[in-house]
This record gives sequence, C-alpha cells and structure tokens, in this order.
Amino acid sequence: MNTTTHTVTVMGATGHTGMKITHRLLQSGAKVRALGRSQDKLAALQGAGAEVRAGNVADAGFLAEAFRDADAIYTLLATDRHAPDYTARQAREGEAIANAVRESGVSHVVALSSLGANLREATGVIAGLHAQEERLRRIAGLNLLLLRPASFFENFFEALDAVRQMGVLADSVAPDIAMPMVAADDVAAAAAKALMARDWSGIAVQELLGPHDLSHAEVARILGRRIGQPDLPYVRLPDAEMTDALVGAGLSADFAGRYIEMTRAFNDNRVHPLDGRTARNSTPTTFEAFAGELAGAYIALLENR
Ligand SMILES: NC(=O)c1ccc[n+]([C@@H]2O[C@H](COP(=O)([O-])OP(=O)(O)OC[C@H]3O[C@@H](n4cnc5c(N)ncnc54)[C@H](OP(=O)(O)O)[C@@H]3O)[C@@H](O)[C@H]2O)c1
Repeated sequence: MNTTTHTVTVMGATGHTGMKITHRLLQSGAKVRALGRSQDKLAALQGAGAEVRAGNVADAGFLAEAFRDADAIYTLLATDRHAPDYTARQAREGEAIANAVRESGVSHVVALSSLGANLREATGVIAGLHAQEERLRRIAGLNLLLLRPASFFENFFEALDAVRQMGVLADSVAPDIAMPMVAADDVAAAAAKALMARDWSGIAVQELLGPHDLSHAEVARILGRRIGQPDLPYVRLPDAEMTDALVGAGLSADFAGRYIEMTRAFNDNRVHPLDGRTARNSTPTTFEAFAGELAGAYIALLENR
C-alpha cells in the first residue's frame, strides 16, 4: 500500500457514503477535499480536518477546481428524488463528472455505481448508473474501480414514518425474495481502502453484497423486534399504490416510475450478483447490527411527533 500523504477528492461528502469515506480517509492520514452543496452541512467535516468545498456538479469550474491535482477521486451521481426528469439529471451530471475527470488527468477514480449496472435498461434508477459506467470507461488511461453495491440498509430510514403511522413496513418489493443488502459503511470501507491503496490498474468492478441475502419479510421481523413490535408486518404494495405513496410523499412522478421499474427488476431477479456470493463481495455488517440505528431513529421519531 502507498502510505505517503496524498490528496483525495470525495464527491457527495454530506451523503450516505461520502461522509463515511471522508472520515475513514482522514483517519488514514489522507488530505481530503470534501465536496457538497452546503457549507453549513460540510462544517462538521471541516472540523474533522477536511478541506471542504461547496458547489454544484452542474458548475464545470467548480468540479475542475475540486478535481485539480487530486491523486484519487470518489465520484457518484446524487439521488434527487424530486427531479422532474431523473434520467436527464443523471445524464447531465454524469457528463459533467466524466468531462472533469478527463480534464483533470487524475490516475485513479473510485465510482459509486450499483448492482445491476451491467444492464443497460429496464432497471429504473440503476440504468443511469450503467450509462455513467460507460462514460467513465471511455476515459483513456484511467484506472477506474466501479463499486456495485446492493441496496443500502439505510433505505429503511425512509420507511420508518410509515411504520409509525400505519404499523407496517411497506414497499413494492416481493416479501419473500432474498436479495443482497449492504450497509453504506461497508461501501465506504471498500471505497476508502481503494482510494488509499490505488492498487489496481485499468477497469475493475467490485460488487458489495452485505453478509447474506435478506427478504423484506425478514427485514420487518428483525426491525420489528428492535422497536418492540415483533409482529410488524411487511406489506407488498401493488405498483400503482406504491407510486401514489411516493408521489404523495412529494417525490417526482418520474422518480416514482423509475423506482417502481427498479423494484420490478428486483422482483424478477434481474438485478443479481454476476459471480454469485463470494468472500470478496460479501461485507461484514449484518442487518441485525444495523437495526439498532434504525431503532434509534424510530424512537426519535416517536419522541418528536
Ligand atoms: N441507496 C441505495 O440503496 C443505493 C444502492 C446502490 C447504489 N446507490 C447509488 O448511490 C448514489 C448515491 O450515493 P449516496 O447515497 O452516498 O449519496 P446521497 O446520500 O444521496 O447524497 C448525495 C450527496 O451529493 C450531494 N449533491 C446532491 N446534488 C448535488 C449537486 N447537484 N451538486 C453537488 N453535490 C450534490 C449531496 O449534498 P447535499 O448534502 O447538499 O444534499 C450529498 O452530499 C446514487 O447514484 C444511487 O443510485 C444507492
């Protein structure tokens, strides 16, 4: 491993993966340029020792400055659930990121993608990540690590309000299909390790799958036990009802449609690991361990209602 101090730029440093990556890199002694949109939200990272920069991906000058002279860059396409045209936004921001990477001449990029990004279409929000992989793959000479995590455990934070209000865990995913799910912290660990080591060349792909596959019915059982509702049911909503629920919660109709298309791809088992489960693509954090964080957030919801 290369242990000399080097500069790493981390996109989305106030988000699920970027924040954890930034902390891990700082702990490893790297100089970190942490990017986000809000100086206020970045303040804690500045306090922890990162050089923070607030700006928008749409601003080519901002990205060029943020990527300049970096030894490695972590890139992602942010999730904007309110975008009127989600795919167009992914394409616009993806193009801007790929252009800035190319112009920076950086040697190593770790790009957050997704399980299922091998598929070109019919995977909802994941299809935009396939397109982004393609853009980055076209950059000559770039050493590119494509991280393809499964669904994050963190997604269940979004479901807690419905648990409180309706006493059910609900989604459009079939209840009993076991699928990989992973903690964002395990994704961050893999990303930070690669950004520090820069020990691959050419294009590499790494799937990240959590310790074992899990069905949504099992998630409800584990979560229910942790929040004192051992009979918490998982309810599969028909696609139309799930769409209404998402739009009713303020998400764009386009995003809701892409979400439903993604859950259909899960239900049809089209989004799956390419090499099955291996020691390399399995990650340590269990949902049982993570459920403590969900329970803490659930208690806070109850106290603040
Ligand atoms: N959730 C899953 O299950 C899952 C699984 C596999 C892959 N993924 C992929 O993971 C990616 C999201 O990663 P994440 O969850 O780590 O991020 P995230 O929590 O969605 O956070 C997004 C980050 O990007 C920043 N950001 C948003 N729009 C921006 C803009 N226009 N310009 C500059 N910065 C902007 C946000 O800043 P603010 O703090 O200002 O908002 C935040 O720091 C998506 O591509 C998603 O498809 C997700």
